[in-house]
Amino acid sequence: MLLSRIALITVGTLFIGCGDAGGGSGDSSGDTSAGASTGDTPTSSGGESSGGGSGSAGTDPFMVDPMCSSGKMWTQGNVESPHMHPGMACLTCHAQVEPDVVAEFPLAGTVFPTGHEPDDCLGLDGAAVPTHVEITTADAKVVKLAVNSSGNFVYDVNESGALMFPITAKVVKGDKERPMYSPQMTGDCNSCHTEDGANGAPGRIVEPL
Ligand code: HEC
Ligand code: HEC
Repeated sequence: MLLSRIALITVGTLFIGCGDAGGGSGDSSGDTSAGASTGDTPTSSGGESSGGGSGSAGTDPFMVDPMCSSGKMWTQGNVESPHMHPGMACLTCHAQVEPDVVAEFPLAGTVFPTGHEPDDCLGLDGAAVPTHVEITTADAKVVKLAVNSSGNFVYDVNESGALMFPITAKVVKGDKERPMYSPQMTGDCNSCHTEDGANGAPGRIVEPL
């Protein structure tokens, strides 16, 4: 105490500034994110589109190792639920087991926190962090689908009317969004947005960062 008093008197504001800098981890995290954002960005379109957001987050969600961010898995098999089988190709399975389900739900998928998450891993908790998927149909109808606590979203024709393809889609969270640039002829989002990515998709559908 006495020592720091003396130091304060002799070195003055410079000493205080030094002490504060110890807690100023903001400086060092700034360096880290700058380094990460200059790294390879294979999904440059997505990265650019999230604009300032990607700068502050600092990491490309498709450059991280495969993981189940939530640490929780869907364990209830084919129990009928909008929370079922996050990550899996919803319509592919529904078409095999229950064509009526495809007719009522012609579009469905899952949003994850990172780009390479395994099947049945619970995705982004949209109940905790309000997020939606915005679909624009061929007849220019804009439909917002809430992301549920499994990360899943579902288009229900009984609520939103018939669905005309091709569609475009983007994920919206607050004032941030992550668009898909190519129009699609199927609503089976996870059939392309697999853990590794299929048909040119970079991996999972990821929340805007
Ligand atoms: C037939 C394959 C296919 C289907 C089905 C599909 N996508 Fe995509 N998606 C792609 C491809 C390819 C890209 C990368 C090029 C682009 O952005 O268009 C992409 C990119 C995206 C991106 C941006 C990726 C990034 O860089 O962050 C989002 C978000 C997205 N898709 C959401 C969806 C949603 C939501 C659905 C369902 C309504 C869907 N996708 C269905 C193929 C598909
Ligand atoms: C491995 C097969 C399989 C996969 C994958 C699957 N489902 Fe299902 N789903 C089913 C079956 C089977 C039913 C019908 C169950 C019944 O009638 O008891 C069903 C029914 C549903 C229903 C209908 C509920 C109702 O009220 O009629 C919804 C919604 C649903 N699934 C959402 C999804 C979503 C979203 C995904 C993808 C993230 C998905 N499912 C993936 C097998 C699957």
